[in-house]
Amino acid sequence: MEVVIVADAKAGGELIAETMAQLLRRKPDALLGVATGSTPLPIYQALAAKVRNGAVDVSRARIAQLDEYVGLPADHPESYHSVLRREVLEPLGIGMDAFLGPDGAAEDVQGACEAYDRELAEAGGVDLQLLGIGTDGHIGFNEPCSSLVSRTRIKTLTEQTRADNARFFDGDVDQVPHHVITQGIGTILEARHLVLLATGENKADAIAATVEGPVAAVCPASALQLHPHATVVVDEAAASKLKFADYFRRTYASKPEWQGL
Ligand code: F6R
Repeated sequence: MEVVIVADAKAGGELIAETMAQLLRRKPDALLGVATGSTPLPIYQALAAKVRNGAVDVSRARIAQLDEYVGLPADHPESYHSVLRREVLEPLGIGMDAFLGPDGAAEDVQGACEAYDRELAEAGGVDLQLLGIGTDGHIGFNEPCSSLVSRTRIKTLTEQTRADNARFFDGDVDQVPHHVITQGIGTILEARHLVLLATGENKADAIAATVEGPVAAVCPASALQLHPHATVVVDEAAASKLKFADYFRRTYASKPEWQGL
């Protein structure tokens, strides 16, 4: 796993957006897996700026959703379907016909999960999957003790995650759904390149466990250690508990530019 320590969230967003732009220049119809939450917003802003100034063409790009609340209608402002339309698709000018996501309102939830895994495979698989990380080490909504080979399925959120996400629901934890559909860890690991961004001191413990801890279901993000091309981009605060921070800094500083992430 490569760990890149950046000055701040804006620098992380710019670096990852440039990586996505390079991918799209090589493969214009790349399937980009996107996450929601606060962390990836600087990535989406930087990518949208590149689209506006003509540095990248996203007209053939495709977007795949990572997870979704169960029980919120797709047009609820906080369904991840709505959030991604607002924060990713519209600013990039990508139509909903290029969007893949699970049906969080399906009556047959398990069927919807299996259908989504099939849809991802039929689309050729995810080329680059963006990930955030929960304060409890979750990726997607694979909460601690999720199977490391899990497929897309329904999960129950921990109370810690529901409390963390209450800010999107007027600060009212009771409005945060208990259940979600999430790509499984096994599904996520099938993407060709995983890029996790973490910013802020509240992510420092989870990042230390992800990068330097054992591979263990209790920290789902540690499964990135099993992936041949995983990049973890962290700001100084999120990197503050890494024992190998200096090594990661030196390694990245001397990396040939042509290698990219
Ligand atoms: C949401 C997702 C989650 C978030 C995580 C961090 O699609 O995949 O794993 O990335 O909960 O959220 P923020 O970035 O809001 O701290």
